[in-house]
Amino acid sequence: MSKVTVVGAGNVGATVANVLAHKDIVNEVVLLDIKGDFAKGKALDTWQQAPIDYYSTRVTGTEDYADTANSDIVVITAGIPRKPGMSRDDLISTNAGIVASVTKSILEHTENPIIIIVSNPLDVMTYASYKVSGLDSSRVFGMAGILDTARYRAFLATELNVSPKDIQAVLMGGHGDTMVPLPRYTTVAGIPVTEMIEDDVLDGIVQRTKKGGGELVKLMGTSAWYAPGAAAAQMVESIVRDEKRIFPCCVWLTGQYGINDMYLGVPVQLGKDGISKIIELQLDEEEMASLHNSAGHVKEVMEVFEGMNVV
Ligand code: NAI
Ligand code: 2OP
Repeated sequence: MSKVTVVGAGNVGATVANVLAHKDIVNEVVLLDIKGDFAKGKALDTWQQAPIDYYSTRVTGTEDYADTANSDIVVITAGIPRKPGMSRDDLISTNAGIVASVTKSILEHTENPIIIIVSNPLDVMTYASYKVSGLDSSRVFGMAGILDTARYRAFLATELNVSPKDIQAVLMGGHGDTMVPLPRYTTVAGIPVTEMIEDDVLDGIVQRTKKGGGELVKLMGTSAWYAPGAAAAQMVESIVRDEKRIFPCCVWLTGQYGINDMYLGVPVQLGKDGISKIIELQLDEEEMASLHNSAGHVKEVMEVFEGMNVV
């Protein structure tokens, strides 16, 4: 009996709603956008797909936050996406204001939701929502790690000519070019990936993963949506079904990995109350240095955000 609101009915938001409807795991998905009747149209299209694809999840669109009342989970995708030549951080000035105002509006109608942020720059937008919301940090977190890990896994599946289903991996850090894919924690059907691939090929895949978002922006003129939408929907599923799955998510750190008071991607367990556990891997020196380098970059963007006094 769950209600999920998705804010922003653009490429990613509409995909989250559509994938969620197909999973048929919640009663209601409300899609909200400021762009006139746009969300209503996207929602109606997804609802009209229900008789074909057999799901019951009721999908509606709105411009009015009153319709989001008593949501269990809110996915925020509102904002502008990257255009060619822009980094995720370039989006900060516009998207910080949007994420802050969306968070406030949601909380006028729902007391204690779980909020999943998708808008970029991801780590700092998650921080913005956390700061505005006053919610417990276990209930405000961001989607990036599932997507970035999926890219890494897909590249490996192509290279090794195996099913992506058989590739398990961990990737940590900020959602940007400093992210940290971890070959030491990557397996192919349980076999360490390092036994199946040459070092230089693996390194090429790691480098391609780090720039994975930019590759799609170059190809399409805007950022990706199918894999990002599916990744956010997978997080919702783990919460709604209390699956306690382990995913890399962008979460508030309080000393884990020697990092304090900031949002960053690390492996966590995700269940009905949000983040139930932050998992601390035994990183080696080089992995830890890469993670701290990534944290340093996110911290810089955080400082830019703080200087803007949006919140
Ligand atoms: P889009 O432009 O297709 O959709 C964004 C939607 O947000 C638009 O429909 C717009 O009208 C709406 N919007 C803007 N301000 C709003 C407000 N105040 N309230 C409600 N709706 C509002 O963009 P797309 O491709 O869906 O991307 C959305 C965001 O997600 C971008 O910031 C993008 O960078 C980010 N993104 C993050 C990923 C991640 O891994 N975390 C992956 C892909 C995209
Ligand atoms: C992506 O990684 C741009 O964050 C967006 O596709």
